[in-house]
Amino acid sequence: MTVIAVFNQKGGVGKTTITANLAAAIAKNGIEPLVIDLDPQAHLTALWQRQPSVQASIASFYQGKSALTDLAISLNDGIRFIPSHMELARVDVIPSRQHANIRRLKKAIETEMLQESGMPILIDCNPTLGILAFSALFAADLVLIPVAAEYLALNGARMLAQTLAGLETLAGHRERRYLINRYIEGRRTVENVVEALEENYPGEVLRTRIREHDSLVEAIGWGTDIFSFDPDAGASEDFTYLLDELIETGVLEMPSR
Ligand SMILES: Nc1ncnc2c1ncn2[C@@H]1O[C@H](COP(=O)(O)OP(=O)(O)OP(=O)(O)O)[C@@H](O)[C@H]1O
Ligand SMILES: [Mg+2]
Repeated sequence: MTVIAVFNQKGGVGKTTITANLAAAIAKNGIEPLVIDLDPQAHLTALWQRQPSVQASIASFYQGKSALTDLAISLNDGIRFIPSHMELARVDVIPSRQHANIRRLKKAIETEMLQESGMPILIDCNPTLGILAFSALFAADLVLIPVAAEYLALNGARMLAQTLAGLETLAGHRERRYLINRYIEGRRTVENVVEALEENYPGEVLRTRIREHDSLVEAIGWGTDIFSFDPDAGASEDFTYLLDELIETGVLEMPSR
């Protein structure tokens, strides 16, 4: 079983887009992933047309009122989903229980035996280096870091690498993979960023790139993923390659069907 935290403290780099479409790629293979919206902005929750009460959202789990598994709902396309609510923002700003909250998600995944189910778990993180993000990073086997191929991305990647190094002294090594998003072949600034990333993080930059695709934006506008929206689109191909690469390189374990 693999827990993947899709994280970058930089906003708008494609975390939610990548979580939704990678989950869809997994589901297309007949494996039901569990997706957790851990962002108080609740973009994924809105995208999947859910408007849960606080009690039915991941906020209730962080309030200590619900078990994780009780909050999961089944979506039509073979994805289990735990929605978010803006109340979740309190976890990052209230100083009490921070220690417990950082460990809460990992502990629940272990004690509720989600680990044994073999089901991959994807966590769509918020763009803040706070308690929620730490909680996801702590629970994760793999940190998947979308990087929009633009100049400032390198600063963000550096900051993130430092944070992860800090976390490792506390909690051990986490595999991490950088995923270039909004890739435009041949554009000089884009190629420079890719080169610099590969130089700084050898072996950690995925070969797969998610190219710039209008169809991804359109699919989101229709509240769906790229496989349902246009299975023949180049974007579907990118996400199929992404899943294949994660499996082939052994960072994502899939249960046998
Ligand atoms: N490969 C892509 N091609 C075209 N548009 C994209 C691509 N990836 C993301 N986008 C667009 O970029 C915007 C930001 O993406 P997204 O919401 O997934 O980022 P995020 O990292 O989750 O943002 P936040 O930090 O606010 O949670 C969205 O409008 C999305 O449709
Ligand atoms: Mg997001």
